[in-house]
Amino acid sequence: MNMRVLCFRSLVFIQLLLLVFSQNNPPGFISIDCGLPTNSTSVDTDTELTYVSDDQFIDTGVNYKVAPEYATNDLIKQLLNVRSFPHGTRNCYTLTSLSAGSKYLVRATFLYGNYDNKRNPPNFDIHLGVNYWKTVDIPDADGAYFTEIIATATSDYHQVCLVNKDRGTPFISVLELRQLETTLYTDANATQSLVKFRRFNLGASDEQR
Ligand SMILES: *[C@@H]1O[C@H](CO)[C@@H](O)[C@H](O)[C@H]1NC(C)=O
Ligand SMILES: *[C@@H]1O[C@H](CO)[C@@H](O)[C@H](O)[C@H]1NC(C)=O
Repeated sequence: MNMRVLCFRSLVFIQLLLLVFSQNNPPGFISIDCGLPTNSTSVDTDTELTYVSDDQFIDTGVNYKVAPEYATNDLIKQLLNVRSFPHGTRNCYTLTSLSAGSKYLVRATFLYGNYDNKRNPPNFDIHLGVNYWKTVDIPDADGAYFTEIIATATSDYHQVCLVNKDRGTPFISVLELRQLETTLYTDANATQSLVKFRRFNLGASDEQR
């Protein structure tokens, strides 16, 4: 076999490998691109993880794209769409097939991008189940803001709820869940959770995330 064929064959192999990985999230991962059309997916260019549309996790809400001036080429794809909740005080995503007693990190990301053409970034609350998690106070249209919680699942699902406080319509861009080793973050247990305050990358030479 000559070198060129060999190279070509390994290229095909690598591409197949990427395809296989990009179709599957590892066990214990749920990656949701909120606001994507039904049944469509997007692949994160850095992690190769596939983000699915959110319609299998929630029945309410309306999908929007961010305004064209915010949909720049360097914006990560999962931030191009949002799901917005003009109706009801409380709208909840249900993340299912979890294992009761396991610990999970849940991350919610918000990029307003003037999707509703009102130039009015909202302020609303996010809850995990019935418990207050954080106030989401969006200061501007072009920043991506995220909040994280580490919580033990007491049943086989977690609910993430956006709560309207009459200070603008709640929306969300991305919702991610990652299973953690139970030995990590021992302060998070069945009766209390940890909300991210800040995270530092100590000793790094640049701003690696
Ligand atoms: C989404 O996929 C499901 C399952 O394959 C199918 O039943 C449904 O019709 C699809 N919906 C749309 C809007 O394509
Ligand atoms: C969780 O941790 C707190 C603080 O250490 C403790 O008071 C509480 O009893 C723990 N809950 C469980 C279910 O272990």
